[in-house]
Amino acid sequence: MLNIVVMVSGGGTNLQAIIDAIDAGVITDTRIAAVISNNEDAYALERAKKAGIPAVCVSRKEIPDRAAYNQALLAAVEDAGADLIVLAGFLVVIPTEMIQKYRNRIINIHPSLIPSFCGTGFYGLKVHEGALARGVKLTGATVHFVDEGTDTGPIILQKAVAVEDGDTPEILQRRVMEEAEWKLLPQAIDLIAHHRVSVVDGRTIIREAE
Ligand code: GRF
Repeated sequence: MLNIVVMVSGGGTNLQAIIDAIDAGVITDTRIAAVISNNEDAYALERAKKAGIPAVCVSRKEIPDRAAYNQALLAAVEDAGADLIVLAGFLVVIPTEMIQKYRNRIINIHPSLIPSFCGTGFYGLKVHEGALARGVKLTGATVHFVDEGTDTGPIILQKAVAVEDGDTPEILQRRVMEEAEWKLLPQAIDLIAHHRVSVVDGRTIIREAE
C-alpha cells in the first residue's frame, strides 16, 4: 500500500481527481494519508474533510520564520508516513531538505508541456497566458519528479491538449485540467504505486504492466 500525502494551496480539483480515482479503482494499492495546505482557506481542505482524509494546515502566517516553517512542513509529511508526496497546486517552494530526503518521491503536476512555459514565474494562469501569447497550437500538462530546480526534474507523463481559436487563459486552463491534469496525475500515482517508474540518468523509464 502506497501512502501518499497531497500538498495543496487552492481549489483542489486535482486532489479531487485523485480521491475519485481511488474510489473508482483507477488508482489501486494507494491511500491518501493526509492533505497538507499552506492556506487555511483552501477549498482543497474541505474536499479532504468531506472524503474523511486528515487535513492539516501549515500556515506561513503562523510560522513566519522560513527555517521553522520548512521544519514544520517536513514534520507534517513525516508524521503522515508519506511514501510519495504529490504536489497538486502547492504554491510554496519545497525545502531543499525535503527534496533530498524524498529524492524521486515527490511529484508535481505542471499545466504545460515542459520545457515550454515552465520555470520561475510560470504558475497558475500565467502559464496559459504565455502559451496564448506565443500562439502555440498545442499545450498540455506534465507530471514530473521534483528536484532542486523549478520544473526541471525527470518527466514521468505528458499529455497534449489543443489550443482553440477564441481561447482565453481561463478557458484553456479548464481544458488542460479536464483533458490532461485530472487524468495524468492519477495515472502517475498508480504507476508509482505499482513500482513501474524508475529514474536513470535524470530520465524516467516506465515499465509495461505485467
Ligand atoms: C493546476 O493547474 C496545477 O497544474 C497547478 O495548479 C493548479 C491547481 O489547481 N500546479 P487545483 O487546486 O488542483 O484545482
